[in-house]
Amino acid sequence: MSLHHRHLLGLEGYPAEDIQTIIDTAFTFREVLDRPIKKVPSLQGKTIVNLFFENSTRTRISFELAQKRLSADTVNFSASTSSLKKGESFKDTVQNIEAMKIDACVMRHPTPGAPLRLTEYVDAVVINAGDGTHEHPTQAILDMTSLQKKFGYLKGLKVGIIGDISHSRVALSNIYGLITMGAEVTLCGPATLIPPHIEELGVKINYNLDDVIEWADALNVLRIQMERMGISLFPSVREYRSLFGITTERLANHKKEIIIMHPGPMNRGVEIESAVADSDQAIILDQVLNGVASRMAILYLLLGGKAES
Ligand code: CP
Repeated sequence: MSLHHRHLLGLEGYPAEDIQTIIDTAFTFREVLDRPIKKVPSLQGKTIVNLFFENSTRTRISFELAQKRLSADTVNFSASTSSLKKGESFKDTVQNIEAMKIDACVMRHPTPGAPLRLTEYVDAVVINAGDGTHEHPTQAILDMTSLQKKFGYLKGLKVGIIGDISHSRVALSNIYGLITMGAEVTLCGPATLIPPHIEELGVKINYNLDDVIEWADALNVLRIQMERMGISLFPSVREYRSLFGITTERLANHKKEIIIMHPGPMNRGVEIESAVADSDQAIILDQVLNGVASRMAILYLLLGGKAES
């Protein structure tokens, strides 16, 4: 069992069979996570460095836990406490780290394309943990693992992606992944937060949230990324909430089962009401647990781990 690409930089053009292999392997590791002893020796002897140049809670802890559950040795690098602050270059930084015999690098970086650049500087396997507004492939894989676990299939599944599409690497990776796996995707949000020509990726756009709720099996609700907007791209939070906020009242108007997802971090009371986030309809914390299993699968498959018992 192996993947076609040596690195995981994004889901654009990523083979469907590889996505399915990762999801299937993630299900195996989900079982490991339910055991009293949540650890297997699959990556014993491998060393992985987590290079975080941008803040993270879920992705960083999830990768570190996945590495520990697989018995790999892990090292965490944080840009804010590194010699980058003394003027050391990105290239020197990563080449010095690799000189210490690293098998894989997991990298989050604010600049789109930084993980690709990293592959030019190091021989280690590179996994993109989010690069600016470009891609977040492991988040999309954990989202698809969560959807397949909930529904049993991806082909033909109707997924609405709601909110700030323009600034969202989660949205782009989900679009690439879901379309590759045969799901139907509709985007919904303010016109100013939906990139032009995005339909060319095979998605539909509908600006009416109620229509999308009526149509969808699941909604993936995105955070409004104020920090990535030069100017506010919608008139007010109040207007955003009224047109695109996921509230119990709005959901109650549609007499149907629908699953609510959110990659986190959430702006409670803006894109999602607290009561919805904490309801049985939301699988947000399942996504987090599936994230550990999905990242175990990705590391295991990319690093050629030994089959665990
Ligand atoms: N979903 C996600 O990437 O969260 P973090 O920024 O906390 O890692």
